[in-house]
Amino acid sequence: MPKSYEELMGPLGRSIFFRPERKRVRDLLSADTEPHLLVGGHEYKLFDISMNGLSFLAPDGVQAWPVGKDLELTLRVFGTPVYSGQARIARVEPGSRSGVRVGVGLTTGFLDLPEVIRQNEEGRLERELTVGAEELRKKVPQAYWKAVSDASYFLQYHKRALDRHEARYRAAGPGGTADLAALAQRAFDALNPQWIQIQRAASLAAVECLRNRDTLQAAKELTETMVTPLMLGSPLQRRAYTKPLGYAGDYQVMLYYYDSDFEGDSVFAQVFHKIACEHPLSAGCRTRKDFIVKLIGEELTRVTTAGGADSLFRVTSLGCGPAREVGDFAKKWGHWPGRTSWTLIDQEDEALSVAYQTSRRALAQCEGQGTVQCLNLSFAHLFRDPTIVQAGSPQDLIFSTGLVDYLREVTAQQLVAVLYDQLAPGGLLALGNAVGPNDYFFSAEFLLDWTIFYRTKEEMLRLPKAVPGEAQVEVALEPGKAYYFLLVRKPG
Ligand SMILES: C[S@@+](CC[C@H](N)C(=O)[O-])C[C@H]1O[C@@H](n2cnc3c(N)ncnc32)[C@H](O)[C@@H]1O
Repeated sequence: MPKSYEELMGPLGRSIFFRPERKRVRDLLSADTEPHLLVGGHEYKLFDISMNGLSFLAPDGVQAWPVGKDLELTLRVFGTPVYSGQARIARVEPGSRSGVRVGVGLTTGFLDLPEVIRQNEEGRLERELTVGAEELRKKVPQAYWKAVSDASYFLQYHKRALDRHEARYRAAGPGGTADLAALAQRAFDALNPQWIQIQRAASLAAVECLRNRDTLQAAKELTETMVTPLMLGSPLQRRAYTKPLGYAGDYQVMLYYYDSDFEGDSVFAQVFHKIACEHPLSAGCRTRKDFIVKLIGEELTRVTTAGGADSLFRVTSLGCGPAREVGDFAKKWGHWPGRTSWTLIDQEDEALSVAYQTSRRALAQCEGQGTVQCLNLSFAHLFRDPTIVQAGSPQDLIFSTGLVDYLREVTAQQLVAVLYDQLAPGGLLALGNAVGPNDYFFSAEFLLDWTIFYRTKEEMLRLPKAVPGEAQVEVALEPGKAYYFLLVRKPG
């Protein structure tokens, strides 16, 4: 519906005054940079920065930082001063853990951010050319260095070997395609078990790196230097690592998992693409999808048994990605009693485009009755208006896979409560999450810079904290044993 004129505020609705954007230090400067901020001669941790101000963290209380007080500031990046002058305290807020965050406006000069970035890069270059490589290696535990060296050697050895054999097969002329496919399969069969062991050893060694932020940062940088580049010929790893949509687990990565083919421009690339598709967390995406398809059938049966053959069964997928469950359900059942109404929600319109097309096609090719509506929104919108998901009616089944794993506990608890409220009496909420502790997290976290929360059964059971006590709660393990499902049923 078009907006009314009252709603069209134009730029006046925002602000007529330009306010320089504030940037978190970690987004502006490289992770290995530690800018030195001196306030009145004492060092403080810089938090964010803009062209006309900055904020820093102070361990003491609010009283030490009266608003309006003038301060002497010096900011150095790699030892070079990028600002030196006066500032005035503008605001003081509680810090994230303890102490306070003090925001100041500069009263002399300004912070030339492009120049700060240039100084930072020049400082990095100097360090990289001199001591950087050795410094990085020393920050990483010996066991992890060994694990990463083993992984790098394994990949380089087999790349060289497979490239040579691929060239030999190609030179043999026609018939080569079948031979190359056989070579890829043969190499996969031989290398996958070995790579599984290497990943497991690397995950074990990586546990020590999780103990502090600096070591974790260094271990990731080392892995991205020594191992990741060797895998970027493989489509799955390239997409997950380069994150063209801004995050690793996008709909295309999910499609790679579901198809699990030999894809890539060389035999080596194809083999490691396929190996990534068979990683326990990737294969688990297929088995958790089958688990959901089975659940859909059971919930449909529940609804149509109680309501008769004309029942309307309402099911919602949150963070639906390509929504493979719809097509697989339609193919598996062919026809079903009653009508099914699918609501597919994702913040990514490219994902919804694939979801809509493939779901509509699958429903058109079967004899069951079903409608599909796609909502392009973030789950955060549900916090503001939870009824969006209902589309007029409570849902019999709400499921989400590959979403809660990215949410901190408090947010996940909030989401569980909001979704529970949208269930019809007797309805079921099913939320998947990668199993923790996890023997294979090296590949996602270190190789592909893909962070998720692996949760134990106890942690899963904490998620329905804010749902009414009447709810029946259980945690199930999907058949691949890679993902838990929190199952919360509203009493009928
Ligand atoms: C790992 S994929 C899983 C897709 C699908 N559930 C599956 O298992 O095949 C995660 C999906 O969640 C979507 N997503 C991420 N953040 C979201 C948000 N804030 N609100 C809604 N969807 C989100 C992404 O766009 C992506 O399609």
